Amino acid sequence: MGAVVVVGTHWGDEAKGKFVDLIGQDADVVIRYGGGPNAGHTVQVGGGTYKFHLIPSGILSPGRICVMADGMVIDPGTLAGEVRALADRGVDVSGLRISHNAHVILPYHRDLDRLEEARRGAAAIGTTGRGVGPCYADKASRTGIRMGDLIRPERLRARLEAILPLRNDVLVKVHGSEPYSVDALMAALEADARALAPYVADTQAIAGEALRTGKRILFEGAQATMLDIDGGTYPFVTSSHPISGGATIGTGVPPTAIEQVLGVVKAYTTRVGAGTFPTELDDATGERIRTRGNEYGTTTGRPRRCGWLDAFALTYSVQVNGLTGICIGHLDVLAGFDTVRICTGYVRDGVALPAFPSGDVANLDGCVPVFEDLAGWPDDDISSVRRFEDLPANAQAYVRRVEALAGVPARFVSVGPAREQAFPTPGSPAPAGLFALSSRPGA
Ligand code: GDP
Ligand code: IMO
Ligand code: MG
Repeated sequence: MGAVVVVGTHWGDEAKGKFVDLIGQDADVVIRYGGGPNAGHTVQVGGGTYKFHLIPSGILSPGRICVMADGMVIDPGTLAGEVRALADRGVDVSGLRISHNAHVILPYHRDLDRLEEARRGAAAIGTTGRGVGPCYADKASRTGIRMGDLIRPERLRARLEAILPLRNDVLVKVHGSEPYSVDALMAALEADARALAPYVADTQAIAGEALRTGKRILFEGAQATMLDIDGGTYPFVTSSHPISGGATIGTGVPPTAIEQVLGVVKAYTTRVGAGTFPTELDDATGERIRTRGNEYGTTTGRPRRCGWLDAFALTYSVQVNGLTGICIGHLDVLAGFDTVRICTGYVRDGVALPAFPSGDVANLDGCVPVFEDLAGWPDDDISSVRRFEDLPANAQAYVRRVEALAGVPARFVSVGPAREQAFPTPGSPAPAGLFALSSRPGA
């Protein structure tokens, strides 16, 4: 069985959680491979709404193994809270497995995230303030604490004794903030560490066993392509690799096991936090999209910046993720417009750019989007549509145009937040069929 990866194509919040839940019904193992509580993945099932920051969105399908892999950064308090909240709602969380190699977000990481942002002033990144960047920085500096340390008090104490003096120096001498004591941290972490210990495992071994026994593996991307620390709009990015390549790092699953990579595309584009966003609509149209789409951050509640779909950025996403297909959601939000626009390229100093410029926010300076106008679908409510053929003709044409610009097939579309409001396009397999689809020509 080929593994399937779900990634965000733009700046996050494309509805990855929703499509992972949908496809996850037919997976055996769902693996989240990166990011931390900066993510907010919403799933709506059976009238209930679930917002996951850390736990994979496949957890609502009974019997799934849901892995939080090495590449994640985990806030123990947030995770223990999510486990409790799910259990309280009657969700079986016994399939959760947390990598012993995943890094732990400590209180000083949250402090440093906030303090560093304050020092950046007008150049602030607009992080989610969850300590994600400082935790990944410690990982890279080899001064991090991992889940395997967290659940072993003696190891945790030894690591904290080695690491904390330097962190305290930075907190106190650089930022004029308060230091932490090893004893206070040990005490603060104790209950969450005990609650999470039963779930901590060697998740690479679990993935290896799943591969050997032909299990269907689904990867849940967090954040999105344009937030990738290398290829994204640096420095206005997150600190990890949300792209599909990230799914093969620290998960135990090699690139050769991946057959399908689905990019989740919003019918328009949104962004939270600072950084260039060429198709942004700072006007009544943007406000209308924000209101209709309820575009407020799942994690921070911040209003999301809204703009027309950037299909030029999408072409970059197709390339770097190796997308084999796309899922196009939020078609209902664009309903009611007479005309909808798609950005098909950028012009700078009167010259069309040959390709989307990756890797530095400055590369987008002076880029003016080139738009193509398509007829809208003025019927105000398409949220009850359940088959592609029943969508207004102009909405179908919109999907087909995005598909053509992306150069890969649209596999699913969606017209609302609930699980049943997503459906395959004609000729595309139901979710279960994705795992049997090969991406190799002639295979
Ligand atoms: P993620 O981070 O990519 O998982 O996305 P979020 O959960 O942060 O944001 C997507 C939001 O859109 C959530 O509130 C979803 O419930 C909602 N949503 C998902 N699909 C659709 C859709 O087709 N139409 C509408 N109107 N909302 C949707
Ligand atoms: P999901 O998985 C949207 C953005 C932040 C900020 C930048 C860096 O729900 O799509 P960080 O806290 O990671 O250091 O912030 O990245 N960001 C997201 N934007 N969706 C997300 O996750 C995001 N995770 C981080 O707004 O601009
Ligand atoms: Mg989100």
